Parts: sequence; C-alpha cells; structure tokens
Amino acid sequence: MIFHLKHIDNLRKLYIDQVEHLHSAETQITEALPNMIEKADDPELKRALQSHLQETREQVSRLEQILREATGKIEPKKNKPIAAMVSEAEDMLGDASNTAVTDAAIIAAGQRIEHYEIAAYGTVRDFAEIIGEQEHAALLAKTLEEEKNADATLSSISSSANTKADRAA
Ligand SMILES: [Fe+2]
Ligand SMILES: [Fe+2]
Repeated sequence: MIFHLKHIDNLRKLYIDQVEHLHSAETQITEALPNMIEKADDPELKRALQSHLQETREQVSRLEQILREATGKIEPKKNKPIAAMVSEAEDMLGDASNTAVTDAAIIAAGQRIEHYEIAAYGTVRDFAEIIGEQEHAALLAKTLEEEKNADATLSSISSSANTKADRAA
C-alpha cells in the first residue's frame, strides 16, 4: 500500500503538483502518439498528429523549464487519467478492423485527451497568475492555445473521417 503524506497546504504547492502531473501526461502522450501516427490512414490526420507530436515535445520542455525554475527538480508524478485514456485508445485501435474506423477511433481518443489537457492547462495557467508567476502563466497559455488548436483541427478532420467510417464495411 502506498501512503500519501498530506503536504499540499497552499495554492503554490497544488500548482506545482498539477504541473508535475502534466509533465507525466505530456510524456505519456509523446510515447503514445507515434503509434497513432503509424496507424492513421488519412494524410491530413497523419500530418496533424505529427505536428502535434512536435508541439507536445516543446510542451514537455516548457513544463521542465517551469519545474526547474520553481523547484530545482523534475519529480515524476504519474498522470492516471492520461494513462487510462492512452490504454483506452490502444483498445479502440485494437478493435477497429479497417482504416476508416481506425481513423475515427484515433480522432475520438485524441479529442478526449485534448479536452483533458484544455481543462488542466486552463487551471494551471490561472493558478500561475494568482500566485504571481506571470512567466509561467505565459508559457502555460501558449500550450493551452496549442491544445485548443489541436482539438479544433481534429474536429475539422472528423466530419469526413466519420463519414468514411460510416460507409466502411
Ligand atoms: Fe499537450
Ligand atoms: Fe494535446
């Protein structure tokens, strides 16, 4: 059994804890995206995932910059919702029996992850502003915009991808 010490007694500590969990989230996403890129059939979807993988690597760097500056160390804290969503995505891809359904499943799983990230980055950006970390807030706002754009791009690809999946098999 793992015992958790209750050591978070102010917003700054909660903020750092959340940023540490986001670092784990982005790291897991950089590990999961290559498989999705490989399985994606639609060239536009492949390109969108590829470019988001590049962005995600930069997002990891931004979080490391914040953590180094704030704590002097990068402490991994496993992000459980992202682990569950990545595992769910792998199940969905395993179950899809043709390329059109695979694309629709990648978009469905991807948008779920983007929405989680949009919520989480909105929160930590607000926390950063309240505790007076304006530079952190600017870095986090940049990532938040990328997550929103990634979600919007997936939405725009989804209508044709879903239509193809509807006509498949
Ligand atoms: Fe991200
Ligand atoms: Fe993302």
